Amino acid sequence: MTDPLDPSDPQDPDYRLVPHRNFNLINGIHSPDEVDQIQNWEIQESDIFVVTYPKSGTIWMQQILTMIEAKGDVSRTTEHPNAHRVPWIELIGSEKLFNAAPSPRLRVTHLQYKFMPLAIKQKMGKVIYVARNPKDVLVSYYHFHKYATMLETPKDFNDFFEKFMDGKVYGNCWFEHIKTWYAKRDYMNFLYITYEEMIQDLHCMVERICSFLGKDLTEEQIDSVVEHSSFKSMKQNPQANYKTVPDSLLDQKKGTFMRKGTIGDWKNHFTVAQSEKFDRVFQEKMRDLPLNFVWDINTST
Ligand code: A3P
Repeated sequence: MTDPLDPSDPQDPDYRLVPHRNFNLINGIHSPDEVDQIQNWEIQESDIFVVTYPKSGTIWMQQILTMIEAKGDVSRTTEHPNAHRVPWIELIGSEKLFNAAPSPRLRVTHLQYKFMPLAIKQKMGKVIYVARNPKDVLVSYYHFHKYATMLETPKDFNDFFEKFMDGKVYGNCWFEHIKTWYAKRDYMNFLYITYEEMIQDLHCMVERICSFLGKDLTEEQIDSVVEHSSFKSMKQNPQANYKTVPDSLLDQKKGTFMRKGTIGDWKNHFTVAQSEKFDRVFQEKMRDLPLNFVWDINTST
């Protein structure tokens, strides 16, 4: 079985977006047939799924969860990369790994709700949905496309802006992703958390996650989780920042995963016209969803 994240696994796949049931998969990384099997996976009470739209803090939650499981012992996060500690369910070959893994099985996904194991929709296992204000998601995703070899390099920011607004990216439409997941929250053991809340008070958010997961950590252990999940620590830990991923996936010369890690970088990229257009679409699409986002590091609305 090939492992796209393994640097010793030489490959030159034909990466491209492949539409499947109104969702874009990435050829060479995902298999439509295997993705369709996910709904039949057998789930245990102890399984934990992190769900994100791309660039919303996935890697951050991978680090936080493994630090919580390790009760703050950082050595458990320096031997293996995040993607091995908390693997993707949509990658080729993931079912076998899932079935063989010891409990608790920590998993992550960008998939839409409709692809998920039926059992989680009957309150088996736990789901943590991490959301981020979508203007910053768009900017982070733009930079990611410039150095992620498996994704198309944007012509310029406006070109990517339009693709994102049209949902022509992996993850598809941001609005649809969050709306379909959030609408079904009562069917699951579900925690909704935002990137901005984590930026503003990581300690409090780690406590909230522990409480959701039923983990009883000491104050010292929580402090350690917070310390080793900070942007600075993760930037220095090659197993927590995708530095070990091969160039066939991420061209490390062209960018870095741990880029800015802040709120409001969209202001350095959006034109006034783009911002107004985004706001119009946001108002319309989010009309029926009572979710507030923090758009600026200095404000809380
Ligand atoms: P930026 O590109 O805005 O810096 P994902 O893992 O979902 O792809 O998200 C990546 C984004 O999360 C990047 O955003 C990255 O810098 C940010 N991120 C990762 N770890 C972080 C941390 N510990 N603190 C703050 N931001 C973090």
